[in-house]
Amino acid sequence: MRKRTVTIIDNQSGKSAEFPVRRGSYGAPVIEIGDLYKELGMFTLDPGYGVTGSCRSAITYLDGEHGVLLHRGYPIEQLAEKSTFLEVAYLLIHGELPNQAEMLTWDHAIKMHGMTHEHLNRFYSGYRYDAHPMSVLTGVVGAVASFYHDEMDIYDPQERLITARRIIGKMPNLVSKIYRYQSGLPFVYPDNSRDYVENFMSMMFSWPTEPFEINPVAVRALDLLLILHADHEQNASTSTVRLAGSAESNPFACVAAGIVTLWGKSHGGANEAVIHMLEEIGVPKNIPAFVERAKDKNDPFRLMGFGHRVYKNYDPRATIIRAACHNLLDEMNLNQPLFEIAMELEQLALEDDYFIERKLYPNVDFYSGLIYQALNIPKQMFTPMFALARSAGWIAQWMEMMGDEDFRIGRPRQLYVGAEKRDYVPLAERG
Ligand code: CMC
Repeated sequence: MRKRTVTIIDNQSGKSAEFPVRRGSYGAPVIEIGDLYKELGMFTLDPGYGVTGSCRSAITYLDGEHGVLLHRGYPIEQLAEKSTFLEVAYLLIHGELPNQAEMLTWDHAIKMHGMTHEHLNRFYSGYRYDAHPMSVLTGVVGAVASFYHDEMDIYDPQERLITARRIIGKMPNLVSKIYRYQSGLPFVYPDNSRDYVENFMSMMFSWPTEPFEINPVAVRALDLLLILHADHEQNASTSTVRLAGSAESNPFACVAAGIVTLWGKSHGGANEAVIHMLEEIGVPKNIPAFVERAKDKNDPFRLMGFGHRVYKNYDPRATIIRAACHNLLDEMNLNQPLFEIAMELEQLALEDDYFIERKLYPNVDFYSGLIYQALNIPKQMFTPMFALARSAGWIAQWMEMMGDEDFRIGRPRQLYVGAEKRDYVPLAERG
């Protein structure tokens, strides 16, 4: 059978060129247009990269029309129900689920990388007491780069794996210290007798004078949130990590670049923005007015936690988080009025033509903040929690890129719409 191609015809010059169509394991086929400039002297323009594939990847698959999310082929629903964050991190990085011996080795290796250099602790006190935790996280993760720079060979797969273990091992430590510093509490060292999530909770919440009691319901809820945020294909922060990494930059610095991108409220910052919005709504009777505002094109307000570039159906992570939120509040016997407001808001929006026509559904961030709140994690720490989880995906994607035979620096082109060439006029002669 003849291989599928797409022919592009330039109706001005009459030139045409044929481009191969490639199929992956799933998803829309792609037109490989790498030779477009050579053949037709043109670039492509796709602001926001709505239809542009930036890489080949075997890590995560999204089907936005049907609300499907697979990591290395495994449905997110199964991972959420049966796996742990640490196992999912292994899966993202190694491509397969570990056997028992591999899991023990992985767990041990992550623990062995849980400490940070003592000098790093001084970075925290350089920030204003009320600095946004994402600003601090950007700084401290970037600073880790300085402890692992000259001796690191990013072209050695073994060193890349050690880097992944370091990042996954250190993130709970780095994130928890932000909260400890801002709360005026002493830093807590990792405790290697504890599991990954338990350990994080002890570093966040333990009291120097009391034994730390673990609440297994809270641990499971947090583990679930970490699983659901671990990776999500070529989103803005992951693409940033890849682009930074393509310049052969230090991987900790690349993760810091990802953190910066995640911070924005169109991306990971939405989890914090959702709670601000629900608090502003305050009582159910105000919900319709906020829905009206979200529809008003003259008002920049959008329903936070709603809509997604890829999902034109329910975000499968939102379905899982919504149920988990319900269960958690029940199990912890918590009365969370914001949850009631969120559910009513969701229902009203899903029945509204504006949201139906645009296929806007709740995304992963709509209910996640309510779980973080139930776990006593303050609002400003929500996006750092997302970063902690997404570090696994970022580093898995970085490793995949570094080992790709097509690896080269990322360098998009543009459509220049600026001034035509003109001559410099000295300052004194300008009118
Ligand atoms: N509220 C009201 N209208 C919306 C919303 C919303 N949350 N999201 C999209 N729309 C409208 C938008 O105004 C546009 O309308 P029109 O066609 O009349 O101009 C239409 O829906 C398509 O939106 P878009 O801006 O072209 O979509 P996008 O793919 O560029 O943006 C998004 C995706 C997630 C940035 C956007 O939906 C949004 O701002 N949502 C709120 C913020 C949010 O929840 N972000 C978290 C995303 S998921 C987790 C993550 O990535 O970290």
